[in-house]
Amino acid sequence: MLHNKTVLLGVGSGPLTWVGVEVLRALQRAGARVRVLLSRDTEAFVPALTFQTLAGEQVITASDVYGTVVGEHVCPLAQVVQDSDALLMVPATPALLAKTAAACGDEALVRAVLLHRGPVVLAFPGQALEYQHPLVRQNLQRLREAGVVLYDQGIRETATAVDELGWVLSPQALVEAVAGCMQDTTSLAGKAVLITAGPTQEPIDPVRHISNRSSGKTGFALAAVARRRGARVILVTGPTHLEAPDGVHCIRIQTALEMRQAVLAHFDDVNAVIKTAAVADFRPQVSAEGKIKKEAAVLNIPLERNPDILAELGQKKGRQILVGFAAETQDLLNNARQKVQSKHLDFIVVNDVSDPRIGFASDDNRVRILDATGQVEELPMMSKTALAEHILDRVEALLGQQEGR
Ligand code: CTP
Repeated sequence: MLHNKTVLLGVGSGPLTWVGVEVLRALQRAGARVRVLLSRDTEAFVPALTFQTLAGEQVITASDVYGTVVGEHVCPLAQVVQDSDALLMVPATPALLAKTAAACGDEALVRAVLLHRGPVVLAFPGQALEYQHPLVRQNLQRLREAGVVLYDQGIRETATAVDELGWVLSPQALVEAVAGCMQDTTSLAGKAVLITAGPTQEPIDPVRHISNRSSGKTGFALAAVARRRGARVILVTGPTHLEAPDGVHCIRIQTALEMRQAVLAHFDDVNAVIKTAAVADFRPQVSAEGKIKKEAAVLNIPLERNPDILAELGQKKGRQILVGFAAETQDLLNNARQKVQSKHLDFIVVNDVSDPRIGFASDDNRVRILDATGQVEELPMMSKTALAEHILDRVEALLGQQEGR
């Protein structure tokens, strides 16, 4: 995946410095040559010799702001940066984020970011408490606007916010993020893709709703990858904590009816629709104006059916490619087959949501893809970004067939 590529790996200091070692190995396994830059105090957590031994090259320390001395020669930092294809910083601590956002290049790692003109990926445990502070969020926003790729998907939603050691990093997912940034970005140029993501929330009263456990991660990964491939991307999403990828037109909705309206408004202008959203099939017949009090011994909430948005798109379908997602717990393929036919889909991605190790909140997933001709493709466990790449490869192939390519 990263053969013939050189990645600059900047390692931040703190309890998560060890993550840098794992990521170094994962980058090497993917075929990359890795040059390591250490931040200030990193060595208090993991000795430089560890990185040096694994990388097989001299590491660059924080004080090597302008370069390193190798034998009798000076190797300027600018030269090292120029010879690299991507820069990955992990863990990107709040201090490093602040310095980078302020362009304060007083240590080699931050100066390297300022000198680098290729992709820059910063990875951090975004749900840890300190990253939620408005000052850190402002720095992140600044970095995002400058085109830096922020990667904060590495934490499980079950990890407590204050416990940053709860970060379960997927080094492989980071390697894929770096590889994805280096891909050519034109394969979907001139095409428009509409993606729906997340759950919908159907209000019961002003403070309660019916919803589901969808995290929105697959839809957001699809939006990011489609954008990177040059597509115009419209992302219609229910409530999630995820931030929209750069350059994506993100429409945030709450209910299924709002999602339907937003999707129908754009349907005629797009080449493909990918419906990852977990739309609530039912909504309360009435949403109480005031908060429902608990006096009643039993409370019945009459529900009514929400429209099936994807089925409606299937009816209206012209040249658009339609991709559905099926969350199933039993009789997976038969149920999915019915959905492909009744909703006029080109293919459906089938998720076994009864398996707790995959699906909803996790970063990885294992799915099957069933197409309109009845062919089934079993995919191995992979990150949601890798799955997004795979789904978009299929969409591109179908668009190519339409155009006679
Ligand atoms: N879908 C939709 N509108 C709905 C329900 C589902 O657009 N009201 C879409 C989903 O976005 C997904 C696909 O239909 O792409 C399948 O969703 P799923 O919940 O698995 O199936 P349903 O058709 O709702 O059937 P059931 O819940 O009975 O399995």
